[in-house]
Amino acid sequence: MSNLYFHYPFCKQACHYCNFHFSTSLKNKDSLWETMKKELKQRSDELNSPIESIYFGGGSPSLLNSGAIENTIGLIHSLVEVTSNVEVTLEVNPDDVSSKYLKALKAAGVNRLSLGVQSFLDRDLVLMNRVHNSKDALEALESVSTHFNNYSLDLIYGMPYSTLTEWEQNLNTAMAFDPPHLSSYALTVEPKTALYHQVQKGEILLIPEEAVQEQYQVMIQKLEDLGYVNYEFSNFGKPSFFSVNNQNYWKGKPYLGIGPAAHSYDGKSIRKWNVSNNQLYLKAIEEGKLALEQEELTVKDQYNEYLMTGLRTIEGISLEFVKSRFGLRYAMYLEEQAERHLEEQHFYWDGDHLKIAKSAKFLTDGLAADLFMV
Ligand SMILES: C[S@@+](CC[C@H](N)C(=O)[O-])C[C@H]1O[C@@H](n2cnc3c(N)ncnc32)[C@H](O)[C@@H]1O
Ligand code: SF4
Repeated sequence: MSNLYFHYPFCKQACHYCNFHFSTSLKNKDSLWETMKKELKQRSDELNSPIESIYFGGGSPSLLNSGAIENTIGLIHSLVEVTSNVEVTLEVNPDDVSSKYLKALKAAGVNRLSLGVQSFLDRDLVLMNRVHNSKDALEALESVSTHFNNYSLDLIYGMPYSTLTEWEQNLNTAMAFDPPHLSSYALTVEPKTALYHQVQKGEILLIPEEAVQEQYQVMIQKLEDLGYVNYEFSNFGKPSFFSVNNQNYWKGKPYLGIGPAAHSYDGKSIRKWNVSNNQLYLKAIEEGKLALEQEELTVKDQYNEYLMTGLRTIEGISLEFVKSRFGLRYAMYLEEQAERHLEEQHFYWDGDHLKIAKSAKFLTDGLAADLFMV
């Protein structure tokens, strides 16, 4: 069982916070998709059959027409076995939504959408330099919820100038649609972004870390009260609507990533990543070469990654799994390192699974790092 991921590296304009790989020059947008299909064919021996999840991400894959998606899904079926209930997700920007487009995507075989709302407040959307405004976001969500029963939306909290009340209003607006899934990320100020320079120059003031934490805690409580499961740090789903793609990724299952900057993992120790440059990527694939680098993870790397992803998910870390996969030395080390945090009630044991206490969730990454084998 494995995942197939496509990274479509084009966007209409650059959001000020985003450091994903994308180009705002759209001139190669169609030829690059053709090249990505060539890469898929070239690397079809790396596909682990059967495919459980196909994910069109980016960038903005909703710049592609439905015919291109349909054609690609057909190609996948001709290359590899796909499960009968395969999850096929496409990330959609609100400004690309129309009833006609959504219907065509559904007919093409897409059965899950991830809508990049980010916020329903125009002040946030302007600050983010999004293409859409709050009216577009509402109309897009209305349309997505009409055409798809399985969908997710993305929201960003911890925005500059945001108050807790505004954040709660944002959440209430989203929840009024009763979405089956929500991904919500704390705004991070990434190097080389417009936001980074604005913050450096003092043009934009961030809110204090405690205020960001408060927004997170209010969100997890509110969503839990509404019947959502916080199955991973930033992800909330109604039972039976957890993303197959996300879960497989966190469980360490293999995935193949197609397109510039896409990452792949063999499910054991080899990680590969394509060059983050559209021209270099095009040239290499068109010459029948691969455009990637790779690394072999050491046992220590694999253990540390398991801790990081495990603690972020509802499953936590299994001591038995650590013992069988990494050996007794690692299991003993884990118990030893966790002791202090168990006393401070950051962690608790659920059977043989070490989990994060709700009150400490916001600190997950730091706490996981404390358990790392160095
Ligand atoms: C890379 S985007 C791709 C989806 C689509 N292009 C869109 O923007 O709607 C995936 C998600 O990452 C999140 N994201 C990207 N950069 C972020 C940042 N610096 N801080 C918080 N969230 C971020 C946004 O919520 C976004 O929807
Ligand atoms: S957030 Fe999405 S739309 Fe904005 S630049 Fe990043 S990938 Fe493109």
